[in-house]
Amino acid sequence: MGRKPHPIIEELEIEKIASEGKALGYYKDKVVFVAGTAPGDIIDVRVHKKKKSFLEGSAIKFHKKSDLRIEAFCSHYGVCGGCKWQHLSYDDQLGFKTEQVKDSLERIAKVELPEINPILGSENTRFYRNKMEYTFSNNRWLTTEEIESGKEFESDALGFHIPKRFDKIVQIEKCYLQADPSNAIRNSVDRFAKDNNITYFNLIKQVGFLRNLIIRTSTTGQTMVILQVAEDNEEWLSMMLNHIKEHFPELTSLLYILNQKGNETFHDLDVNVFYGKDHIIEEMEGLQFKIGPKSFYQTNSDQAYELYKVARDFANLKGDETVYDLYTGTGTIANFIAKSAKKVIGVEYVPEAIEDAKVNSQLNKIENTDFFAGDMKDVFNDEFLAQHGKADVIITDPPRAGMHPDVIKTLLNIAANKIVYVSCNPATQARDLALLDEKYKVTKVQPVDMFPQTHHVENVVLLELK
Ligand SMILES: C[S@@+](CC[C@H](N)C(=O)[O-])C[C@H]1O[C@@H](n2cnc3c(N)ncnc32)[C@H](O)[C@@H]1O
Repeated sequence: MGRKPHPIIEELEIEKIASEGKALGYYKDKVVFVAGTAPGDIIDVRVHKKKKSFLEGSAIKFHKKSDLRIEAFCSHYGVCGGCKWQHLSYDDQLGFKTEQVKDSLERIAKVELPEINPILGSENTRFYRNKMEYTFSNNRWLTTEEIESGKEFESDALGFHIPKRFDKIVQIEKCYLQADPSNAIRNSVDRFAKDNNITYFNLIKQVGFLRNLIIRTSTTGQTMVILQVAEDNEEWLSMMLNHIKEHFPELTSLLYILNQKGNETFHDLDVNVFYGKDHIIEEMEGLQFKIGPKSFYQTNSDQAYELYKVARDFANLKGDETVYDLYTGTGTIANFIAKSAKKVIGVEYVPEAIEDAKVNSQLNKIENTDFFAGDMKDVFNDEFLAQHGKADVIITDPPRAGMHPDVIKTLLNIAANKIVYVSCNPATQARDLALLDEKYKVTKVQPVDMFPQTHHVENVVLLELK
């Protein structure tokens, strides 16, 4: 029996952009999500997902193109899965991000709100990332145009996973996310490997030598390259690393990892230094941050600075406060605000990040910070507070899932004067604000854009005791 053809909805008008950046229209009593579209588009949609309350599909014909549309600048737009909002101007992107924050706060939090400050846009809307990760695969994804061109393509590729196909990689010629030498390094590594018949990883069979290439840069001009290989082949390893070293003398760290696990993560593997240092240094307001291959650092350094300044302004410290920095990561916020507080205590569940946070305090001769590793819901409790001091101000920057209800309970118990809530997910932030409403009122809201060309938005909220 053949599969049923996907139904087509004709002349659907896209009406708005909803949460998670999805564009949508309405068909009968259902919402229809269509990726890569803009409000004002009138399209035929091929439906490929049918749920009780919504449908999801792709645009197969445009009857009218929205006035909001602009030409995407990247040749990989629509294929690689990144930069999904390139068809919108940056001003419109900022408008939709502000709407997303407003909508979440009004619809989910349903708490009294002050006026939302205008979103802080990113000065750089291209080449703003300090870290990129490229995957090698011997199973290149070919676009429809490439297939229709009738040309022959090498099956090895170095680039990005395409959405929903873990085994296929789209070959990247130029990516607009990280400044050079990023593109130059990736293309040179790719060409050299192909010219020398060095094998690319097969993600299904888990065989092949070259696995993944990570490039990290900093505003101090330092660059780290990490090459992950999946086979112990000294000749190929030495050829690859020497090639990179000779062609990119500006690199400050060239590292490699032998990764024979089922996935590309390397938090549990040895990282070897082939050349240079085992870290790069980032700087912010004269503070230095040591970034090792396993360290987390906000990927848009310039906007991270803007974000931290907002958090610091909202905290409005006088110098005599005990501040808790929850979900501190590598302690960047804690170290950034340390000189404005009496004491800062950071909590985070990745022990290596806590080690980095301590190193960063030492590096900057900061002596009034303390860092603890553990799951927030277990560590951050009355006993912990009794031990480390009453919290005057709490800064919290949880992951996308937001805060655990037990953490919220503790926050309500402590009743610190102020909570500065930094979030990368307005929906979970709004859910948490509703719970905190019992004792706190929202007095400031500041959206910040860390990721131009994507729907992601960061939002900082100041909560003060009622
Ligand atoms: C959005 S990041 C915050 C990063 C940090 N504030 C910064 O600006 O670099 C969230 C952090 O929360 C940590 N985390 C996630 N779940 C946690 C939990 N249950 N307990 C403690 N930390 C957690 C993550 O490891 C991550 O470092």
